[in-house]
Amino acid sequence: MTGSVGAPVERREGREKVGGSARYAAEYHVPGRVQAWPVPAAVARGRVTGVDTAAALAVPGVLAVLTHENAPRLAEPDDPTLAVLQDPRVPHRGWFVALVVAETLEAARAGAAAVRVDYDAEEHDVVLTASHPGLYVPEEATEGQPGVREQGDPDGAFGSSAARVDVAYRVPPLHNHPMEPHASTARWEDGRLTVHTSSQGAGAVRTVLAGLFGLPEERIVVTAEHVGGGFGSKGTPRPDVVLAAMAARQTGRPVTVALPRRYLPAVVGHRAPTLHRLRLGADADGRLASLTHEVATHTSRIKEFVEYAAVPARMMYAAPHSRTVHRVAALDVPSPSWMRAPGEAPGMYALESAMDELASELGMDPLELRVRNEPDVEPDSGRPFSSRHLVECLREGARRFGWAGRDPRPGTRREGPLLLGTGVTAATYPVTVGPSTAAVRALPDGTFLVRINATDIGTGARTVLAQVGADALGVPLERVRIDVGSTELPSAPLAGGSSGTASWGWAVHEACARLARRLAEHPGPLPEQGLDAHADTTGTADAGSDRARHAFGAHFAEVAVDTVTGEVRVGRLLGVYASGRILNARTARSQFVGGMTMGLGMALTEGSTMDAAFGDFTESDLASYHVPVHADVGEIEAHWLDEDDPWLNPMGSKGIGEIGIVGTAAAIGNAVHHATGVRLRELPLTPDRVL
Ligand code: MOS
Repeated sequence: MTGSVGAPVERREGREKVGGSARYAAEYHVPGRVQAWPVPAAVARGRVTGVDTAAALAVPGVLAVLTHENAPRLAEPDDPTLAVLQDPRVPHRGWFVALVVAETLEAARAGAAAVRVDYDAEEHDVVLTASHPGLYVPEEATEGQPGVREQGDPDGAFGSSAARVDVAYRVPPLHNHPMEPHASTARWEDGRLTVHTSSQGAGAVRTVLAGLFGLPEERIVVTAEHVGGGFGSKGTPRPDVVLAAMAARQTGRPVTVALPRRYLPAVVGHRAPTLHRLRLGADADGRLASLTHEVATHTSRIKEFVEYAAVPARMMYAAPHSRTVHRVAALDVPSPSWMRAPGEAPGMYALESAMDELASELGMDPLELRVRNEPDVEPDSGRPFSSRHLVECLREGARRFGWAGRDPRPGTRREGPLLLGTGVTAATYPVTVGPSTAAVRALPDGTFLVRINATDIGTGARTVLAQVGADALGVPLERVRIDVGSTELPSAPLAGGSSGTASWGWAVHEACARLARRLAEHPGPLPEQGLDAHADTTGTADAGSDRARHAFGAHFAEVAVDTVTGEVRVGRLLGVYASGRILNARTARSQFVGGMTMGLGMALTEGSTMDAAFGDFTESDLASYHVPVHADVGEIEAHWLDEDDPWLNPMGSKGIGEIGIVGTAAAIGNAVHHATGVRLRELPLTPDRVL
């Protein structure tokens, strides 16, 4: 070991990004490249009855207008949201009904405005309620999570509990809004397709394009070299990449489709709204007897995606009687999809808020209530945990935050017009890992080149993988070069589910360890072409485990509530995580702090409203959908425990990309209750709700 892993190494591409030379998908200035602008549907449900493209084609510079009548035919995709311009139906407002291709972006935009579309509009239904007649229980929520789980007699145990909480919460639709909107540049040459796209995984994009266009994968190259965030919305291919490939084929020119930000909410997925009902029953000492978490959510008419928000209640706390249920209604809304910590983020908002309410009911410290309900094994499965240091995170956080001596009575700390309060929650996120391949070459100049189709979505993946490689090779970090972000490289899974580093790192570690052994046995100087090693973790990384594997953490928040304006300010956020071995202290800290900041947004500013009459989200750009800005963010600290877990992977790491958002909004909500004595059960906590 050279000790590279764990060090706070700077991002390798940091200077390129800050200096502007890092290329993003819309910035490939291939000769002859043209631009395209989509036309979104202007009704919430119905059919296109006619498209008049004459005025658009008359705009100088416009080359083509693609519609369902003339666009290239695609094979039917597994993901129905990718069947763009294939038929006249409009499943929701914002669905793309045409694409204008032009010499310049300005001409494409002007052309799109000149396309005239006629519709046969139908009545739409877009508003989710807890009693919506369309609600049904899916056999499986997304990710194969069972729709329902039940143990014992939750109703009976609740009825006979000494302390009871029966509460409802609402989390609004939330939108991913990565800094770089979705964009793709495509070109066809001699029956081969080359695509630069903003994606969390180029491999899946290639597979999907091969299917849609009926091409062998060997004839397609997809790169995702630099990606300006995704938060799940780039975890699968989106319409921009399909449209770019279609338009390039139709016009014979390289085409860039860069989606305008205000079109994103309709076509890249969103976190569906969730309506929660929690029932917690405990004895006088705070031991849970009964835990029920029921969630209602929406999906679209064309795709079933069920936000699995009742899942964390299956593994957080020991409760002999429990029921967790998902219900979903298919509405005329855009298709929801993954958003950072799907399931856990909204689910733990509700569960951790309800735990705080139970602590109030019992007159017990909310941190101690959690400690008292620590399970010995994973409650739902009975499996032992590979490691679970939640209590240690809570205790360490309490020490750093200054929790001791907190007066539990709400509304007691006042400074002028401000009421101050503090809150605590637990955090969790599952550990997953997927099979990957990687290659490494030792070169005669003493350097090493690691090759893997990993994706760096801004997390520092390149840097961390080079660190893993350097340690496995036993060489200094600066001798290890790395190529990522292309299907020309050894195949690897996407950057998602907080599993990228574990999955890719496992293969990089294996390949580099293998090369180190080859080098040790290699006599004399290396051949000119160098010495290679490969690894494929299929069969090891995807092997089932008899251990329940999750990361844990604790979040603490301090808020000031302005009793005159209703404004909530978060002065301090503090997270402590038990996430296995931390591989890069600098980039890990950024991930944790980024997650907590997104949780702050979920608590205070983010959320869109579904306009019942219009049939779409009202807030679709950053002027109306408010993500936290620097002025909203006070002091944020991220800390971690050294966790030694032998049940994970050769690096001993758990994922860190998502846990920062889990429970953070509830910590802030609990602090607002502590400050004011008022329970607010609907996010975000905007001044109109607080007053
Ligand atoms: Mo994440 S929502 O799995 O990209």
